[in-house]
Amino acid sequence: MLLAALLCAAWLALLAPSALAEGNGLAATPPMGWNDWYSEYCNVSAQLVEQTAREMVADGMAAAGYRYVNIDDCWMAPSRDSAGNLVPNPTRFPNGIAPVAAYVHSLGLKLGIYEDAGTATCAGLPGSFGHEAQDAATFASWGVDYVKYDRCNIPYGDFPGASQEQVDQTLFTRMSQALRATGRPILFSVCDPNPGVNAWTWGPSVANVWRTTADIEDNYGSMLANFEGTVDLYRSAGPGGWNDPDLLQIGNGGSTPTEYQSEFSLWAEMAAPLIASTDVADLSSAALAIYENENVIAVDQDPLGRPGVPIWSADGVWVLTKELSDGDRSVLLFNSTGTATTMTTSARAAGLRRARGYSLFNLWSGAVTETGGQISAFVPAHGVAMFRVVPQTRRQLAPLAPHTVLSLAAADSQIDAGATTTVSETFANQGTVSVKRLSLSLFAPRGWRVRRLGGARRVRLAAGRRFTVAYSVTAPAGGPALGLATLTGGASYDPVDGLDESSVDLGESVSVPVAGPFATADTTGQAASFGASDGSLAISASGLGVLPGFNGQPPVDTYAAVYEPGAAGLSSTAQVTVTSDPAGGSAGGAGLIERDQMTAPAGSAPAVALFVSANNTIEMAWNASGGPDVDTWLQVPNSYGPPPVTLRLVRDGSTFTGYFSTDRGASWKLVDTVTVAPSVSAGAQDVGAFHASGLDTWETTATFEDLLVNGAELR
Ligand code: GAL
Repeated sequence: MLLAALLCAAWLALLAPSALAEGNGLAATPPMGWNDWYSEYCNVSAQLVEQTAREMVADGMAAAGYRYVNIDDCWMAPSRDSAGNLVPNPTRFPNGIAPVAAYVHSLGLKLGIYEDAGTATCAGLPGSFGHEAQDAATFASWGVDYVKYDRCNIPYGDFPGASQEQVDQTLFTRMSQALRATGRPILFSVCDPNPGVNAWTWGPSVANVWRTTADIEDNYGSMLANFEGTVDLYRSAGPGGWNDPDLLQIGNGGSTPTEYQSEFSLWAEMAAPLIASTDVADLSSAALAIYENENVIAVDQDPLGRPGVPIWSADGVWVLTKELSDGDRSVLLFNSTGTATTMTTSARAAGLRRARGYSLFNLWSGAVTETGGQISAFVPAHGVAMFRVVPQTRRQLAPLAPHTVLSLAAADSQIDAGATTTVSETFANQGTVSVKRLSLSLFAPRGWRVRRLGGARRVRLAAGRRFTVAYSVTAPAGGPALGLATLTGGASYDPVDGLDESSVDLGESVSVPVAGPFATADTTGQAASFGASDGSLAISASGLGVLPGFNGQPPVDTYAAVYEPGAAGLSSTAQVTVTSDPAGGSAGGAGLIERDQMTAPAGSAPAVALFVSANNTIEMAWNASGGPDVDTWLQVPNSYGPPPVTLRLVRDGSTFTGYFSTDRGASWKLVDTVTVAPSVSAGAQDVGAFHASGLDTWETTATFEDLLVNGAELR
């Protein structure tokens, strides 16, 4: 008995290594709330904060658990008062912060604020360095409940001999202690994603939340990068202190509903803070339904406070299991790839005890089914399946429907126009009873041909069995440069009594191949795709882009291109119209590129790139030194040019002149004339159109028209 008690205590201690380490008693479960940054940036105001708080009460978010209403950077005036106190910006917060806090409190919510450990915030406003105690006292006197503390402009020179991490740890600890000394319970959030700083190693002793990854962007690649950068840190988090992969972008428009659903599921499974950074007053009902999924929130907020553990990860598919306080498990199947796929794990692998069967509560569809032990789903590209799994010891009085999985797989996920591939459709019965009257079908869009290669019906399919039908599928000839067709598989069957139906979609990408003399090049890690048809061109690629490295980072040089080998002689002109450019990161974009050898890997002398960046500015990057990389860069000031933008690059020996036009060539603006090192630009070069998504975790499709090299046009 005593031994058992001792073992139990030791086990509990093991379970919660960081339990309440920060010691302020806050954040027993991950904080939930709102932050203005990704919808407003520097446009925060008292009016916005109060309106958002009202909205959160009205739309049900407050009731769903979103409690903190957080002000980010830019709330303060450019300087402190004569006594050194922080002053709220008089236009944004005309009556100061205290009345805003009081108003938010009157609605039953809590107020958060932002400061910085350095001499200035990231937006250049007064930082807390040297004022920690004073600022903490100010926040407490205003009624602040949450402080997000950032890491810009830290005066490292004042700490000779100390590493960046040591200085950061010192300064964040200073503010943590100052906040505690005020006597007001204030949740402390460390925002220190600087490369080389591992805030999760010291965060648990000073903070309730610590950032793990770079600022999130409103795109799938950035969300994925922040998931991947956080998922293995599950040992650092627990009640009182949580890993923070950054704010939720759900509702901001840069990702699909499937991708936003994944973001919410992944954050919940990792027990991350759920802080919505979007315009709450303008949320679509679909986005609100994601934010208010009480079953997924319950996983995030489970009182045991154990983040999900990855039990499988290969080729871009992830399986996570999260232990819950009542002995259930939340099992998350995440398909980060661009192709829908069948994913499988088992209840035992997910950590559940042995049982005769398990109920699977699908947290997004609401369906409850029973499995004999396998947990699988056909998971869409960039999507998740999320189940709460409960062991079933006795047969139910009203039996649950058997867990069945319908899936599609194509022999080639990418084919040429007019080509044929084989698609197989599989129906698996993972329940504990058989299903009857099974019938499968496959539908393709108009213009496609589908030939079934075998029988499509089964009178009875026993528990644990599967049934597969193959089809020969032919894409129409011609069509768009690069298209995505949806193939839909359907099943009808009798699970217990009465017919049931299910359907699944598989995307099949079809391209019209690029014809000579044009060729393709791909220096990204994932296979890019290309298509050209009727004067339009499409490049689907990941890749970081073509720019010198920032802040001491190495230069980036990964992209995919459609080009004409050796076509840019000493006197030549290339031109293209960029018609769409979905890109992110710091160097993503689409435009023209010239170099000695287009297929050369990164680190082999490039020449010049002229492109529309991820922020729609016109940029030019070139190799001025003759070194192994692009080393010089310019951005045309105020050149906000959302596509269509026509770019023209004129070569005269080692000199390259860039132009751009926002009226399809009716009028031109000069970008600049630049000189590329003669060693790089001595002979004829390869030239063409390129695209890089800006992140190597994300593939996007840029489109172009009228690629012209010396008057020869790609058709
Ligand atoms: C960044 C921080 C963002 C936001 C911004 C404000 O450094 O990571 O989350 O707070 O500063 O300037």
